[in-house]
Amino acid sequence: MLQEKNPTLQIYTKLKYYNKFCQFQILVIFANMEQTIINSSGYSIFIGNDVYDTIRSFLYRYEFSEHKIFVLVDHNSRRYCLPRLMSNIQLFQKVHILEVPNGEEIKDISYCQKLWQEMADNNADRNSILINLGGGVISDLGGFVAATFKRGISFLNIPTTLLSMVDASIGGKVGIDMKGLKNQIGLFSNPQVVFVIPEFLDTLPRRQLVAGFSEVIKHAIIYEKNYWEELSNQSFDEIKDWKELIDWSVEVKNNFITEDPLDKGFRKVLNFGHTIGHAIETFSFQNDNEFLLHGEAIAIGMICELYISSKVTRLPKSEMDEVIHYISSLFNHYPLRSGNFDLILDIMKHDKKNTGNNYNFTLLSSIGNSMINQDVDAKLILDSLRFYQNLGS
Ligand SMILES: NC(=O)c1ccc[n+]([C@@H]2O[C@H](COP(=O)([O-])OP(=O)(O)OC[C@H]3O[C@@H](n4cnc5c(N)ncnc54)[C@H](O)[C@@H]3O)[C@@H](O)[C@H]2O)c1
Ligand SMILES: [Zn+2]
Repeated sequence: MLQEKNPTLQIYTKLKYYNKFCQFQILVIFANMEQTIINSSGYSIFIGNDVYDTIRSFLYRYEFSEHKIFVLVDHNSRRYCLPRLMSNIQLFQKVHILEVPNGEEIKDISYCQKLWQEMADNNADRNSILINLGGGVISDLGGFVAATFKRGISFLNIPTTLLSMVDASIGGKVGIDMKGLKNQIGLFSNPQVVFVIPEFLDTLPRRQLVAGFSEVIKHAIIYEKNYWEELSNQSFDEIKDWKELIDWSVEVKNNFITEDPLDKGFRKVLNFGHTIGHAIETFSFQNDNEFLLHGEAIAIGMICELYISSKVTRLPKSEMDEVIHYISSLFNHYPLRSGNFDLILDIMKHDKKNTGNNYNFTLLSSIGNSMINQDVDAKLILDSLRFYQNLGS
C-alpha cells in the first residue's frame, strides 16, 4: 500500500496511453485522503471525497480579507450539499448564500438581474468570488453571472449532479436560455478551479443520475472502445465506484477542451448526440408539461445519430445495435410524433452550430472513432427520427 510507505504524502502519477494521445492524470494521496487532479485550460479539477482540505486551502486567502464569498445554490443543493461543506469548512459559515429555485427556468436574464442586484447590495467587489454549488443549471447561470458582473469576477464550481461533474462544470461554457431556446446567450469563461465530490451523488434522484450517465456513455463511444466495453459490461445499478468513472469521463472531456478551448474544431467531437439531442431537448422544453432532462434528450439524440452514422460514416450495424440496446435499457422511450418532426428540424436551424441549410454533425465510423463536420441532409435526419419512433412500437 502506498500509504504505508509514506503516511504523509505520496504522489503517484498514472500515465494512461490511449490510441490517440497520451494523457496525464495525477492521483495524490495525502495520508488516507485520495484525490485526482486533472489540469485543464489554466485551472485544475480536483476529484475525491476528501477534497475539503484543498477547498479550505484555496479559500484561505478570503479568511481574513474584506472580499466576500458568495455561494449560489438551488433549493436542493442548499438542502443536500451545502450542510456538508458547512460542517467540513468553517469559512462556509460566513459566506453569503444566493438561492434560486430548482430547474432550467432559472437560466433566464431575470434571474441574472436578481443575482447581480443581490451581489451589489451585499458589497460584492471585483475581488469577490462566486462558488457555484449545484448542477449544470447552477454552473451555467452562476458562471454567466460571475463572468459579466463588474466585467468579470472569479468563480469556482462544485458540481452536485453526475451531469455537471462529468460535463457542465468543466470546459468554460457559461450562459442562459432565451425565449425557450437553450443556451442562446453566453460566453467562454473558465472557473478558477473545480472540486468534484462524488459522494454528493448519494442524494441525487435516480432519474437525474441516469440522465447524467448519458454523457458518460457518450464519452466512452466517441473515444475508447475498450472503455465502452468495460462500461457496458457492468450493470448501471451495480456501479459502486463513481469516483473512478468520473475520473475517466472528466479526463476524456478535458482532452478535447484543452486542445480546443474555444470550440473551433476538435472539440466538436463532444457534440455527438447533441445536434439532434439539443433540438429534442428544446422541443420538449417548449411543449411538454414534464419536459425531458438534458441527458435524456441526448440519449435520444445519440440513438438518431448512431443511425445516421450507420448511413454516412459506415458505423457497423452490429456496433450501432449494441449501443442502442444499451441506451434503450436505461432510458424510457419518448413518444415522438411525426407531426412534430418539421418543428424539430426548424429548431435545429436555430442551433449555433448549423449554418445555412447544412446540418453539421459529429458522427462515428466505429465505436471509439468519431468524425467531425459531417454534412447531413434533412431527409436523413427525418429518417433517423422515424427510426427512433419505430423503436417504441
Ligand atoms: N456548460 C456546459 O458545458 C454544459 C454541458 C452540459 C449541460 N449543460 C447544462 O446543464 C443543465 C443540466 O444540468 P443538470 O442535469 O445538472 O441539471 P440541474 O442543475 O437542473 O440539476 C438537476 C436536479 O437535481 C437537483 N440536485 C442537484 N444536485 C443534487 C444533489 N446532490 N442531490 C439531490 N438533488 C440535487 C437540482 O436541484 C435539480 O432539481 C442544462 O441547462 C444544460 O444546458 C451545460
Ligand atoms: Zn450534453
